[in-house]
Amino acid sequence: MAQTQRKILVTSALPYANGPIHLGHMLEHIQTDIWVRFQKMRGHLCTAVCADDAHGTAIMIKAEQQGITSEELIDGVRKEHMADFNDFLIGYDNYYSTHSDENREISTSIYKALRDNGKISVRSIVQAYDPEKEMFLADRFIKGTCPKCKAEDQYGDNCEVCSATYTPMEMINPRSVYSGATPIEKDSEHYFFKLPDFQDFLAEWTRSGTLQDQVANKLSEWLDSGLKEWDISRDAPYFGFEIPDAPGKYFYVWLDAPIGYMASFKNLCDRTEGLEFDDYWAKDSDAELYHFIGKDIINFHALFWPAMLDCAGYRTPTGVNAHGYVTVDGEKMSKSRGTFIKARTYLKHLDPQYLRYYYAAKLNSRVDDIDLNLGDFLQRVNSDVVGKVVNIASRTASFINKKFDGQLATDVSEADMIQSFIDAGEVIAEHFESREYGKAIREIMRLADVANEYIAVQAPWVLAKDEATLPKVQDVCTVALNLFSILATYLKPVMPNLVTDAEAFLGKELTWDNRSELLFGNTVNKFKPLMGRIEQKQIDDMIEEGKAEAAVEAAAKEATQPAQAVTELSKEPIEAEINFDDFAKVDLRIALIVKAEHVEKANKLLKLTLDIGGETRTVFSGIKSAYKPEDLEGKYTVMVANLAPRKMKFGLSEGMVLAAGPGGEEIYLLEPHAGAKPGQRVM
Ligand code: 2FM
Ligand code: ZN
Repeated sequence: MAQTQRKILVTSALPYANGPIHLGHMLEHIQTDIWVRFQKMRGHLCTAVCADDAHGTAIMIKAEQQGITSEELIDGVRKEHMADFNDFLIGYDNYYSTHSDENREISTSIYKALRDNGKISVRSIVQAYDPEKEMFLADRFIKGTCPKCKAEDQYGDNCEVCSATYTPMEMINPRSVYSGATPIEKDSEHYFFKLPDFQDFLAEWTRSGTLQDQVANKLSEWLDSGLKEWDISRDAPYFGFEIPDAPGKYFYVWLDAPIGYMASFKNLCDRTEGLEFDDYWAKDSDAELYHFIGKDIINFHALFWPAMLDCAGYRTPTGVNAHGYVTVDGEKMSKSRGTFIKARTYLKHLDPQYLRYYYAAKLNSRVDDIDLNLGDFLQRVNSDVVGKVVNIASRTASFINKKFDGQLATDVSEADMIQSFIDAGEVIAEHFESREYGKAIREIMRLADVANEYIAVQAPWVLAKDEATLPKVQDVCTVALNLFSILATYLKPVMPNLVTDAEAFLGKELTWDNRSELLFGNTVNKFKPLMGRIEQKQIDDMIEEGKAEAAVEAAAKEATQPAQAVTELSKEPIEAEINFDDFAKVDLRIALIVKAEHVEKANKLLKLTLDIGGETRTVFSGIKSAYKPEDLEGKYTVMVANLAPRKMKFGLSEGMVLAAGPGGEEIYLLEPHAGAKPGQRVM
């Protein structure tokens, strides 16, 4: 069985550091983790790294809205992401950040290599510019009226109503989503990576077996229509790395994001004996390198990335493994329906292994979308994992524990059946290797059916009633537990905790290779139930919580947007409806503004001290453009009292006050009619 040990480096796409991990992300991280655990279990030297993708305009703006620095934002989010992955049993060897010294160094050196190889061009381009906010605006940060069909509130590049495409300047009444200002045109120098020079290299690389057929075919279309130079620079203000020879210009987030894979690995190498960066990244490396990604970011990983790596003297990936999107109950994940399920929300209600199993059962090596059908999820986990696999042990373990003091039979019976279970490990391994997890699971469940059939026919519970047939009970249960142990081995990459418990019971660490070492004559430990069934209520509660979170978030977003962005919101259509219970979760209270103060260095915030009936709250509110602090003191308003407190640069904000209006000087705090008392609940 000895096979040579492979050196493998695996990555998942780096999640943006500006939002929570949800079950859509989780598909990819679970897919990666199963593959990595499988490789490790097979004895290979497999290393998995990931990181937060920490740069870009969106992160910079979000931090600004929260009144904290970008660094503070990404540090906090990274901690949350790491906890989510850890609790979903995703075992990265390193989870780093693209905002790191290693990434700055490698990104800079790769850029210099591209430049020195003549693959960077510089030219001036005209772009929309927000004169108030003093920054260039990408098309999606401009909204206005469609010049063709006159639909309002369309993005700066295309109309969602009539599908027209246009430039922001062709729109009617274009405005910056940040300030509401009318964008002007302004030119600036940009740095481009000369992708067309890699046309032949990429035509060959994309057909060299590194990509799925579906993906390679799609890329051929792009390659045939000719590649364009890739704009890799952004103007200040930008949260990222400054380009070495170009002050005020920053690397576009997508330049340093994939380099973040290298940086995360470098950081791990620097503190791990025997792990050498060059062994994995040098041009002549004999290690394997795989990127697991979603289908939306294929061009970055299968065009720009290999071209950059090759040009800078590094090896290119062995494989880029793309997966499809997650839908829930057949539809796009939706906040208002409660199906935009955050990893953390899921974890409050359900065991992560249920989802790991369900995703595994549905995954294949293609780019197909995966539907998380919640009814099917419950039914399948309960019937397969609990009803089939766990059942093998729970139907037989107690006899061994009670009647034989934990002692297994010493003679091998049913050797053929057991051997067939061992042999199946070959094809199951092939399925895991080729990311056909669904096929692996089907084979494991087919075997579980065989085992259960065997137990049902032997009926140890009947044999146990008669002293004369007691030895046979030991025999049958010993066979069953051996079958269970082999199946648990195969499920270990998918359900690691369940199998750890099974190992504790069996008194054996399960590895792929030792599955043929049978348990006869050994003593097993006391059997504890391995996994319970999913109850419908757990799912219902999770969805309800998702809806409530979405309702609170929508309200919070409205109140904490910088004043100017309120312009945006006032034009938003009414949100999808929520039910009364969702609404009732938002605890609105009458608040007396006891004190209102300026906040040093904050452009938009006032610090409010609120009395809500014997309790005092501090709230930072973006209303400075409309109110003088002294005019607010003694006034009544309405606050959301059960919003999770938020740490801001200036202090802790313990709720929010409600206001309306387009922004600027036109922000109007809600005020109750006379007679309302602090602390009274608003319904
Ligand atoms: O699409 C995304 O979510 C990106 N943050 C993925 C980056 S993957 C890699 F290139 F860093
Ligand atoms: Zn239109």
